Amino acid sequence: MNLTTVLAFVLAAVGAIASPVVDKRQSCAEAAQFGVLEIVPSDLQPGTGFTVHIDYACAVELGVVPTYIDTYIEVPEGNNGHEPPILLDRRTFVLSPPPLTQALTFTASFPYYPVLFEGAQYTIGVHTIYPINGTDGNPILIEGIVYGDINVTTS
Ligand SMILES: *[C@@H]1O[C@H](CO)[C@@H](O)[C@H](O)[C@H]1NC(C)=O
Ligand SMILES: *[C@@H]1O[C@H](CO)[C@@H](O)[C@H](O)[C@H]1NC(C)=O
Repeated sequence: MNLTTVLAFVLAAVGAIASPVVDKRQSCAEAAQFGVLEIVPSDLQPGTGFTVHIDYACAVELGVVPTYIDTYIEVPEGNNGHEPPILLDRRTFVLSPPPLTQALTFTASFPYYPVLFEGAQYTIGVHTIYPINGTDGNPILIEGIVYGDINVTTS
């Protein structure tokens, strides 16, 4: 297929799915609003490589179209005050039109952060910054977060 054919195919596909969008929305759980997150592997220590995959298909159906995506290692619950969010990845997101995958996948290496606390509930927090419409018609960027559990050990 050359590019024109691919484009025509994409446009045809967009046209074809235009009407059943409502049905698809009903099958998307509210919990998927800010993406469905997978972290593999989830047992990590400094230097461990891992993959972060966030599927935004349902998010987009629910009106959340990412502009920026920041991913942190963080301790949202029971933070002892010495566990600041560690920025893992930051990017501007360009959404692929369906039928292409509406997802973000990247690999990272768990950093050698100097003060890791054994037993702290470390998570991967994916912060999705996306626009809503202000009452004056101007877009306003707001943030939604989805957390994925990880186990962190230092040795
Ligand atoms: C904002 O409003 C425009 C024009 O009505 C609409 O096309 C767009 O989908 C809206 N965006 C959001 C995020 O609701
Ligand atoms: C963390 O470790 C516990 C105990 O080994 C295990 O049950 C749990 O599934 C692990 N969680 C993750 C997210 O890997």
